[in-house]
Amino acid sequence: MKVIGINGSPHGEGNTFTALSIAGDIFAQESIDFEIFNVGMKAVQGCTGCNACGKNKNEQCIFTKDVVNEGIQKMKAADGIIFASPVHFSGISGNMKSFLDRAFYVAGANGGLFRHKVAGALVAVRRSGGVASIDQLNHYITYSEMVMATGNYWNVIHGRTAGEASQDTEGAQTIEVTAANMVWLMRLIENGKGVVAEPNPYKKVYMHFVR
Ligand SMILES: Cc1cc2nc3c(=O)[nH]c(=O)nc-3n(C[C@H](O)[C@H](O)[C@H](O)COP(=O)(O)O)c2cc1C
Repeated sequence: MKVIGINGSPHGEGNTFTALSIAGDIFAQESIDFEIFNVGMKAVQGCTGCNACGKNKNEQCIFTKDVVNEGIQKMKAADGIIFASPVHFSGISGNMKSFLDRAFYVAGANGGLFRHKVAGALVAVRRSGGVASIDQLNHYITYSEMVMATGNYWNVIHGRTAGEASQDTEGAQTIEVTAANMVWLMRLIENGKGVVAEPNPYKKVYMHFVR
């Protein structure tokens, strides 16, 4: 089994990395493979709503010069995904937003590539804006029929300079609890295959409230 951690920070080894590593320790204890995939360090194009992914149906965005298409396939191949971002102006980082907008648009247009995968979310913050940013990450999870693993608080870990987040023992604990719950959910899903039927996907109804 494998978990991929999406790191939306511009700092490869900043507090978001520290937080992901706390989850990674739990996965290592449980013999689950864990890889961190950085999306915050080089420019990521935003979604232009061109809908080429819906027409081409090739699981790809037509913008090919950044990490999005590689990230989509890594997430598709994983059993679990942790979405992790630093808080930037009380929201997720710009790169993380661009990455997730395009990845989830492609995933939705190609039959729900992340449906029923186990998901967790966390943010690293100096002071405030953490809960708003977690909510932002949760929107992608709940939009796409992922199975959300939760902790024993909201997954906000505090720190300013790199590594400071490791001093936030309460923040670290809720990330550990989330990681442990991810492992449990992934095993339930794996062991349920062929035993408990998955619900069939619904054909999505689209309304825009004008007509
Ligand atoms: C552009 C930018 C905006 C930020 N906005 C906030 C904010 O709204 N609230 C806050 O508490 N910290 C804010 N911070 C601080 C970071 O959230 C904090 O230092 C975090 O630990 C960084 O994680 P990282 O080391 O993984 O990049 C901001 C930092 C940057 C670079």
